[in-house]
Amino acid sequence: MKLGETVEVVIEKMVYGGDGLARIGEEQFVVFVKDSLPHDRLKIKITSLNKKFARGEIIEILESPNRIKPFCALYNACGSCDCQIASYDFLIKQKSEILKDIFKNIINEEKIFPVIPSPNDKFYRHKIQYPVQQTKNSKRILLGYYKKNSHDLTNIKYCPVQIEIINEIAQFIRDNFELDCYNEKTHQGLLKNVLTRISSANGDILLTLILNCEESDFINYESPIFRFFKKITTQFSAIKGGFVNFNPKKTNKILGKETLKIIGEDFIIEKLGNKSYKIGATSFFQINPKSAVNLFDIVKENIKPNSTILDAYGGVGAIGIYVSEYASKITLVEENENAISMAYDNFKMNNIENFEILEGDAKKHFQNFEKEKRTFDYIILDPPRSGCESEGLKAIAKLAKNIIYVSCNPQTLRRDMSLLIEIGFKPKFVKGVDLFPYTHHIEAVAVFERE
Ligand SMILES: C[S@@+](CC[C@H](N)C(=O)[O-])C[C@H]1O[C@@H](n2cnc3c(N)ncnc32)[C@H](O)[C@@H]1O
Repeated sequence: MKLGETVEVVIEKMVYGGDGLARIGEEQFVVFVKDSLPHDRLKIKITSLNKKFARGEIIEILESPNRIKPFCALYNACGSCDCQIASYDFLIKQKSEILKDIFKNIINEEKIFPVIPSPNDKFYRHKIQYPVQQTKNSKRILLGYYKKNSHDLTNIKYCPVQIEIINEIAQFIRDNFELDCYNEKTHQGLLKNVLTRISSANGDILLTLILNCEESDFINYESPIFRFFKKITTQFSAIKGGFVNFNPKKTNKILGKETLKIIGEDFIIEKLGNKSYKIGATSFFQINPKSAVNLFDIVKENIKPNSTILDAYGGVGAIGIYVSEYASKITLVEENENAISMAYDNFKMNNIENFEILEGDAKKHFQNFEKEKRTFDYIILDPPRSGCESEGLKAIAKLAKNIIYVSCNPQTLRRDMSLLIEIGFKPKFVKGVDLFPYTHHIEAVAVFERE
């Protein structure tokens, strides 16, 4: 096979990340093809090649029995959804197959359960982060997502997977924001990103403008920013709090460290099941609350009553509070200060008294617990995409007999599962939950018991 060569392939399966996989020739050489679906017969051009695999680009679709028209008019221009070219049911089956593929060499197939679909596959996103740009001459403000693998922004007037009022708020910002927006090339201009968080319980919204300036320089922009927030909160009574976040660094990270409230409330209230949560402007909270209930129910079903629970990577306390009926005591570990302050309020708001919150790095706390010979009945782990640090996992071995690992990245879950098996835990099952329809993301819960 050569670079630039045209070949005919049949897509065998979808892999994590959303590409289709086909095999070529007697050697069954693997080629990954973007925007393809299992059972597609395609003419492709080889666009990159190494010793282990190739990548190809579709030149002609010869057969594609499951392909449908994307429901979003901007699907091909916007990089936010990964796959809208098949029905939701079909895509859920693919996610289940992907989960099986990732874990089949490490646990028995009957312990890998299918992905539970999201109760809503449209209008499910309750948190939106839009980068902002401005056209050179007309100074038109653009808000939307970057096209795939680029920093070309698609101006999104309507997004069918987010809550509808966010489209109107975005338009209001385009029409009313008076100051300059950020230019990545020159590193000039003030408004970099817009972050909105909306409650599924009552529709209340927090709006944060991420600015390209230090907090100490904010005085130069204070009056127009205050005027803007006054205007937007008058127009949209659902916006309960307005904030600015300072991020003057040239970085891919959206949020800077410091956030300042400009107007209104510090938080909104979200509900999951019969529990209420305060969510701040920048604290982590699940973006698809209805699907999060399915996820947290799996955790709850696997905890026995009257248990001591360590909720590690606990955020604002979402999981610990959700399972609190089964807890004689909850210990939450979290490193984000803002989330910790919300977690204190959330435990109190849900009338939970026997709790403890420990600030700082989870790994260090695990190691301290080990030194102190402290134990728990259950440890809930819900780390970021990168998973848990191996040193931290090793320290966990002596802390509990039961681990419930909630993961937003099945590949790091698999890595961490191998280590947990090595140190004496036995996986009871892995179950997928779809929190992000039409993207490649798969949330999964794995339950472990010490042998
Ligand atoms: C995937 S979120 C889960 C939050 C929470 N369990 C929930 O469901 O809302 C991961 C959380 O871990 C926190 N975090 C990331 N790295 C950490 C570390 N090394 N030590 C402690 N917390 C950490 C983040 O601030 C974030 O709140």
